[in-house]
Amino acid sequence: MRIPDTKIDEILEQTDIYQLIDEVVPLKKAGNSYKGLCPFHTEKTPSFNVHPDKGYFHCFGCGEGGNSISFAMKYHNLSFPDAIIMLAERCGVTIEYDQNVSQDAKDIVALHEELILDSRKYLYSREGKKALDYLYERDFSDSLLEEFQVGYFPPRVDPDKYVRKYDKSVLLNSGLFKEGQYGLRLMFYDRVMIPVKGVTGKTIAFSGRTITDQQPKYINSPETEVFKKRRVLFNMDKAKGALRKMEYALVVEGYFDVMRLHENGYSNCVASMGTALTKEHIEILRRYTGDIYMLFDGDQAGYNSALKSLATFVESDTYPSVVFLPDGEDPDSFLSKHGKDGFDDLIGSKKDLFLFAAEVVIKKSKDFNAKLRGLDRIKELLMIIKSPYRKDYYAQKLAVMFQIDENTLRKDIDISAAKTRLRRTGESLEQNRDRRGVTYFCERDFLAALVQLPEDVSLMMTEKILPEFFNDKKMSDIYKKVLDVLQNGDNINVLLSTPDIAKELSPVIISDLNSDLYRMASASREKILANSVKDTMNRKIKDSADMDEKRRLLIEKFNAKKQTQVKTDPED
Ligand code: UTP
Ligand code: MN
Repeated sequence: MRIPDTKIDEILEQTDIYQLIDEVVPLKKAGNSYKGLCPFHTEKTPSFNVHPDKGYFHCFGCGEGGNSISFAMKYHNLSFPDAIIMLAERCGVTIEYDQNVSQDAKDIVALHEELILDSRKYLYSREGKKALDYLYERDFSDSLLEEFQVGYFPPRVDPDKYVRKYDKSVLLNSGLFKEGQYGLRLMFYDRVMIPVKGVTGKTIAFSGRTITDQQPKYINSPETEVFKKRRVLFNMDKAKGALRKMEYALVVEGYFDVMRLHENGYSNCVASMGTALTKEHIEILRRYTGDIYMLFDGDQAGYNSALKSLATFVESDTYPSVVFLPDGEDPDSFLSKHGKDGFDDLIGSKKDLFLFAAEVVIKKSKDFNAKLRGLDRIKELLMIIKSPYRKDYYAQKLAVMFQIDENTLRKDIDISAAKTRLRRTGESLEQNRDRRGVTYFCERDFLAALVQLPEDVSLMMTEKILPEFFNDKKMSDIYKKVLDVLQNGDNINVLLSTPDIAKELSPVIISDLNSDLYRMASASREKILANSVKDTMNRKIKDSADMDEKRRLLIEKFNAKKQTQVKTDPED
């Protein structure tokens, strides 16, 4: 989908970045800008800055930054086009999509909506009787089915209606139709249909449950541009409001579990779609709540999934609780049997995942050796816990649980942590060798100026400056992209909305030091030129075998340096 460049500018101009962010991150005025607690990392003192006049935000704590579009993408987990659509809706800018490509995207959404309506009709038709009986048998009421727009597709759905109405590319790109022996066919066959929605409530996929014993039990839409399993939580669209009120999120495994919980007043409930919870899932949940309760089956498989999830959580600096269901039950069946009161009691039995993991390790260890091996794994995670209080707390508990000396455990953690730090430093030095060198401030300044100045001025500034002149590979790559945009007359704001690029340049863009962009551009340009002359000289000097030649070059370099120093000091 291509959105006209002029629209992107209009949307950025119309969007008040202060309002946009203040809705989700409370901001306080501080001089020309606003400050708040960064939503992208955990912090206690605000280092997250928003500059409404520049249309930029930047966090000095974690380095995240960018414009309204990159904020919407990052915070609401949206694709670039979806972020544009969301902002356009907010500020009342209408987007007329230009090309066919965008028509396709619109058609895919329309196709999903049409399929929902059709599947609902099938469910209540003669053909759907078996499916409806199945759902009634499981005690799902008409109103709950309506709320989740559950439907049904019979074994043979005539694709003609869709083929006539939509382009073949739309049907194929939606992932819902497949090329079969006799032309296109719907990929769901005799299945109860559950629409899967994105955070904003737009249907982006389907899951179909068999009502016979067909394998697999559930068939999901394949991954598409809009449907990425590792980023989608079923029911997030409905749950996000409830999460703020209920102060914790319930994570379960199944669609029907979510529906049953929702019916019982637990609207704060989501399900990952047949995969373990990913870092992305955790990041999304944490935007709405700090407390996550994971519901698992009370059998070996359930314990294993809980243990497996621990590392992902600790790496995301998140410490959930776990709740185990009685063996053989899932939330759906449990609620049907024990009702809401029973479920509340169950939630009351929640355990801290970290300590639970330690408990399981101890129970499973047949001897002291096994126990130590288990402790080694847990120690790895204990080391990376950010809060010193939490680390202390777990260390105390672990010492008691493993019957070891607390001080020895602490010493051991400290030594291991120091070793890891050394290794990391070594690795990062290694990585830096790939880069041509350090980042000089002038390189970042130059790029930040280029993207803010009028295009014709910027284009002039790029004359004689080659990407090879940049010391920092990252800056050099961004410069190449900026050059492309300027030379093709494309919209620089599109480039600036790319989260990676926005993050690199936002600290300079929002800093108040450089109100005179033209001066910043020409000064940093001169420094880059001077550095590149110096670099070329150094390379020549290093490469020349002849001693006299070397001497001559050194003198030349010395003179060049004297000259440039008069005007400006290169290298910074
Ligand atoms: P379960 O097998 O526990 O099913 O899978 P369930 O949710 O209890 O379903 P019912 O109650 O039997 O109808 C848990 C989740 O794993 C995913 C689905 O998201 C399911 O809800 N899954 C399971 C699949 O994606 N494909 C499968 O074949 C099975
Ligand atoms: Mn179930």
